[in-house]
Amino acid sequence: MYNTSLLKFKDITDKYGHLTPVEGKIDIPFEIKRVYYITRVQDGITRGFHSHKKLHQVLICLNGSVKIRLKNPENEEIVELKDPSVGLYIGPMIWREMFDFTEDSVLLVLASEYYNENDYIRNYDFYLEEAKKIF
Ligand code: TYD
Repeated sequence: MYNTSLLKFKDITDKYGHLTPVEGKIDIPFEIKRVYYITRVQDGITRGFHSHKKLHQVLICLNGSVKIRLKNPENEEIVELKDPSVGLYIGPMIWREMFDFTEDSVLLVLASEYYNENDYIRNYDFYLEEAKKIF
């Protein structure tokens, strides 16, 4: 889908375990200004329900699994994240919903900007109106 993609990172594996390096502007297409993580999401919970006007993000599921529903006015797609060496890039103006978090899931998010509530579009009808101008 336009403005989204799956990124494959290195998975350095030896008898000591797995190591995945993620470098800003090298492994992901922006400089990382903020990191946050989502943990201990209870069964049946769906999060997200928003898009961002300008923010770029990469989602990495470090443990367990989670599904991400991506939408723009023309397409809808579901991506399951369960491999810590895979990142889901989500660019501006993509509606996202996160669901089916396993109990042990740890979802790491790398973001291109500091937290700014004004960058969010949380109303789906307004999102469609704005996104239709672009897509
Ligand atoms: P939100 O982005 O709506 O979470 P999700 O999309 O996963 O459902 O954020 C939930 C709350 O956390 C909201 O009140 C804003 C706050 N928040 C911050 O204070 N800083 C942050 O970096 C983020 C991502 C959220």
